[in-house]
Amino acid sequence: MDKIVIEGGHRLEGTVRINGAKNAALPIMAACLLLNGPSRIKGIPNIDDIHTLSKILENLGGQIKRNTDGTLEITFMDRENQDKFTAPYELVSKMRASICVLGPLITKRHKAKVSYPGGCVIGQRPVDLHIKGIKALGAQIDTTEGYITASADRLKGTELSLKGEHGTTVLGTCNVMTAAVLAEGTTIIEDAAREPEVQDLARFLNKAGAKITGIGESTLTIEGVRELHGVDYEIIPDRIEAGTFMIAGAITRGNITLENVKSEHLTAVIDKLKEIGLEIISVGNTVSVKGNNLYHPIDITTMPYPGMPTDMQAQFMALLCTVEGKSIITEKIFPDRFMHAAELRRMGADIRVEGSCAVIKGVPFLSGTNVQVSDLRAGAGLVLAGLVAKDVTHVHRIYHLDRGYERLEERLSKLGAVVKRVDE
Ligand code: UD1
Repeated sequence: MDKIVIEGGHRLEGTVRINGAKNAALPIMAACLLLNGPSRIKGIPNIDDIHTLSKILENLGGQIKRNTDGTLEITFMDRENQDKFTAPYELVSKMRASICVLGPLITKRHKAKVSYPGGCVIGQRPVDLHIKGIKALGAQIDTTEGYITASADRLKGTELSLKGEHGTTVLGTCNVMTAAVLAEGTTIIEDAAREPEVQDLARFLNKAGAKITGIGESTLTIEGVRELHGVDYEIIPDRIEAGTFMIAGAITRGNITLENVKSEHLTAVIDKLKEIGLEIISVGNTVSVKGNNLYHPIDITTMPYPGMPTDMQAQFMALLCTVEGKSIITEKIFPDRFMHAAELRRMGADIRVEGSCAVIKGVPFLSGTNVQVSDLRAGAGLVLAGLVAKDVTHVHRIYHLDRGYERLEERLSKLGAVVKRVDE
């Protein structure tokens, strides 16, 4: 197993290019199950979550090829694969997002058997809203023996809401939208997720022949069509990777420029970084982040898009540990998502977690030590903390990080961090 070893205290400077969005790539790849003919998708990052979904799609009869320029070619020969409809436990248990094959399978192959993804360290993560939506379209669903098994003839358009206890659902919206594109008649999804990644999936589907309107709004209207064709598409830049690098610049009081960024997807993140005291300049597809030594504490509440993403919460927590005064983070999406707080405390942070709130008092310095990654974004937060900690930080269990960040340590090194991957 690999670990990342960081010698803290080096100010980051330079330019980094942001990859395509993992969370757009996953549902878009799954949506290729719906298309007749090959698709070429540009900008898909070379990370473990993509490899896991590729295996699931190959099991379902897909042919997947990564070209030297990073474009992924995905082809399904539907007539040969109609009897393949299972996403097995061995693969789904590696990555919860595997659930996004449910919608495409049920509408295109009329059967789906997808392992129940279960909970994970960031919280309970139920799939009741996914099931509610697919059922509303007319599928019969059984959830015994650890699998979601669905069957249907042609689905029928309907009106439904995806509002849950913690707001709407991102992948649930993707599943219902992909199921509805081939349904008979019109589907209206109320309380749909508005995340840029959901919008990207809708644009991809429209390019393939779907009829989706209301993209980016909380009501989506989907007029069912008979078939969809393969397309060439480029996915949006990863706003969470961009936000993570911005905080790498901020926490080291550095000066870095990010290329391939859509700053309009990062409004909540940029506003909070400015409130802390950073200078952020966006020009076209680049964003420059200029740190200093005069930061202010802030309060953050995670919310569905366009609010502060929960996937940036751990990174902000690391930064706020280094800002004098009291900051408060309230987690509204995954109320238990604070596993990284205990590890940051091991580095000398002053964090008190009370229910879904974390109270952070800035400390004069963090100290390097051994820390364990519990989940992808927690790992990003710990690496960021390591960049400013005194002495050396050993970040263990980085397989979580490799799920979502491509060569993170190499890209940080190029910006001046002293960081390496070591086989333990
Ligand atoms: C996606 C993202 C993940 C991000 C999350 C919230 C991908 C691959 N993953 O996950 O990185 O942190 O959005 O922005 O895109 N819920 C229910 N019932 C359901 C589904 C969800 O109650 O059927 C709850 C969840 O427990 C959570 C909230 O709704 O409290 C939001 O979860 P959801 O948007 O579904 O997260 P994912 O789509 O799984």
